[in-house]
Amino acid sequence: MIMNQTIVVTGGAGFIGSNFVNTWVALGLGKVITLDKLTYAGNMENLAQIASHPQHVFIQADIGDREAVRELLRVHQPTAVLNFAAESHVDRSIYGPDAFVQTNVVGTFNLLEEVRAYWQALPDAAQAAFRFLHVSTDEVYGTLSADAPAFTETHPYQPNSPYSASKAASDHLVRAYFHTYGLPTLTTNCSNNYGPYHFPEKLIPLVIHNALAGKALPIYGNGSHVRDWLYVEDHCHAIRAVLARGNVGETYNIGGCNEKTNLEVVHTLCDILDEAKPKAVGSYRDQITFVKDRPGHDQRYAIDASKIAGELGWTPTETFESGIRKTVHWYLNHADWVDNVTSGEYQHWLQKNYSARQAGAV
Ligand code: NAD
Ligand code: TYD
Repeated sequence: MIMNQTIVVTGGAGFIGSNFVNTWVALGLGKVITLDKLTYAGNMENLAQIASHPQHVFIQADIGDREAVRELLRVHQPTAVLNFAAESHVDRSIYGPDAFVQTNVVGTFNLLEEVRAYWQALPDAAQAAFRFLHVSTDEVYGTLSADAPAFTETHPYQPNSPYSASKAASDHLVRAYFHTYGLPTLTTNCSNNYGPYHFPEKLIPLVIHNALAGKALPIYGNGSHVRDWLYVEDHCHAIRAVLARGNVGETYNIGGCNEKTNLEVVHTLCDILDEAKPKAVGSYRDQITFVKDRPGHDQRYAIDASKIAGELGWTPTETFESGIRKTVHWYLNHADWVDNVTSGEYQHWLQKNYSARQAGAV
């Protein structure tokens, strides 16, 4: 059990980071310093429930801002730094890879340099107890054929998108800081998450949002692509387990054992919405539209999570069926949150990403 730590969470105003920070504070595990640049994906509303909590401090800064990071470490003397901050959307990485290299590669490098300097100056006991936990993705492993075994931690890195390549580069830097400098690092490679505060550019929240707005539900290609879905709270629980009991220098794969095709996911969402908020006529499935595929689209991801289960005793608590139901209901009950994040920049993104994808282009 982790108690009374002071941790720094980068990217804590984003989807997974905010779920992690909110739960950490709710569980009374210690103090959290959230460091976030507040890009389009970062949102202070995600942290509204702990806005004035004495155990939470928010600092708006870039992970690549060496002076801001140095000052934060000096003032708050954390026992761990958890790096969630990233540009995270594959489609955006296709249109604009620069930001992915800047934040995910250069930003992680700058963060590692400042953390290394801070850690090297700590007394021996504090040095030994310190952890740098890097949150990464299964996408670094590339794509799987239909019957290939799921990704283990020793699967070769074969990233196929600018997003996954930039995450792979950051994983390699973290690995090098352990082997070269002895920085006590941990890396987690997780499958696709879903749940509250998920920005509606990603498949699940986008489909819920578009369905309720009476818009097309865009499925790339023929919808046969497979992802291994994990409820975000299960991911946060796994990260706490790795932070508390993971072996330094190791990587841990985290997944939900919930492989679904995109079409299955969208059908499930439509069926839950048909039940919870029926349309006047017909089903939400009627809004499904097949559109032009994503270039370099990975066919299948699947995680073998036996290492984290065997070594750290972590297994997911939600099934896809229970988690997706909770998620749909969260979105139905948080229309204001959705309205606020889907104004402004979001509309430009929809125009950019979907205007070039003509309906019927399977
Ligand atoms: P997100 O895009 O929702 O949030 C990213 C957060 O990082 C935002 O709050 C943003 O403002 C912040 N940020 C971006 N650039 C920054 C910078 N230069 N400095 C400081 N803050 C910055 O992403 P997410 O889905 O919550 O993903 C969090 C992490 O988990 C990422 O590292 C991602 O690669 C990884 N991951 C995500 C998934 C998933 O399904 N979403 C799965 C596996 C791993
Ligand atoms: P996404 O949520 O972007 O996550 P990732 O690319 O990191 O896996 O996409 C999940 C899957 O859904 C992926 O195979 C692409 C597909 N997809 C669509 O079919 N339509 C969409 O509008 C989006 C955003 C994604």
